[in-house]
Amino acid sequence: MAFDPAEILTAAKSSRRALKAALLGWFDHNKRDLPWRRTKDPYAIWISEVMLQQTQVDRVIPYYQRFLETFPTVKALAAAEVSDVLSVWRGLGYYSRARNLHAAATELSSRFKAKLPGTVDELKSLPGFGRYTAGAVASIAFDQEAPLVDGNVARVLSRLFELDGAPGDKTREAALWSLAELLVQGERPGDFNQSLMELGATVCTPSSPTCLLCPVQTHCRALAAGRVDELPPPRKLPPRKRLELAVALSHRDGNVLLARRAEKGLFGGLWEMPALIVEPGVNPYAALRKLFGKRSTIGPEMLVLERTLTHRDLVLRLFPVALPPRLKLPPEAYLEWKWVPREETKALGMSSAMESALDEVLPLEAMKGRRPKKK
Ligand code: ADE
Repeated sequence: MAFDPAEILTAAKSSRRALKAALLGWFDHNKRDLPWRRTKDPYAIWISEVMLQQTQVDRVIPYYQRFLETFPTVKALAAAEVSDVLSVWRGLGYYSRARNLHAAATELSSRFKAKLPGTVDELKSLPGFGRYTAGAVASIAFDQEAPLVDGNVARVLSRLFELDGAPGDKTREAALWSLAELLVQGERPGDFNQSLMELGATVCTPSSPTCLLCPVQTHCRALAAGRVDELPPPRKLPPRKRLELAVALSHRDGNVLLARRAEKGLFGGLWEMPALIVEPGVNPYAALRKLFGKRSTIGPEMLVLERTLTHRDLVLRLFPVALPPRLKLPPEAYLEWKWVPREETKALGMSSAMESALDEVLPLEAMKGRRPKKK
């Protein structure tokens, strides 16, 4: 271990007052004007924090606004169909976040009178609330002295206290949470937590941080040691996986065949053109033949679409598949399937990759004027 956690906590204790005063003063004058900073509504703050966990601020803003217009309260969210929640979430990725929001809203209605509770322990008893989200909501919405560590906070604290260890390192994680817990004690815990995140997002950035503009430069051990660029060291990423799907484009009379995935797992709960995973070396055409059987006619490959997701390289290979109109049971990975009028597919909640593929092979404009026959 390249650092001494006890020594670091002692040092943090003695510099806490000055460090916090500098950070809070800087935050007051330099914070970005973001929509969730104009509210004290715990529900709105919760939604923003969940969205911000895996998504950049600029991308979150329009989603945040649309989400709150569509589901303005815990009650409204709990009353919604999960498919409608997924539909508003479409494009943000990590769809389990949306499913958890809906599940938590349902629990809030039954256990907490449709209000968010104010303590970390109560919050952590709800679906989707880990340490980070509970700390963020408790501190920002309820002024609790609750710590939080996200990627930005981890980087800022690693540099301030010269913590070695890569993201994911257990000793480093424990030291970061202890530091965050110690530092958040005192006035304005929510603003303090946000000031750390804000500093990480705007000044103490992963590359080319602007240390000359940093309000806590005199406290920064990494700066004094000339090690800002080395800390934190990059996370060791597992090799990216390639995921190839054979996708069936089936349409008739202005309707497209869409299937809804099981809630858990890949693209959980989303609608898409029926697809199956093609293992390396397997012919996708043959795989689709096997899936749909003799009553189907499969045409030659019509599109290959490649997408880079966070953890995988996704390849969609589209084949036209003619099926009899009366559907039997959906393929194994799916809960249901149905013929959907082409102009209604967007509203259902598809993954972006599938929607792009559909737009390419069956553009909406080309379907205009065709009246879908009722199925
Ligand atoms: N990242 C996630 N939540 C944030 C917040 N409230 N302020 C700044 N950055 C954030």
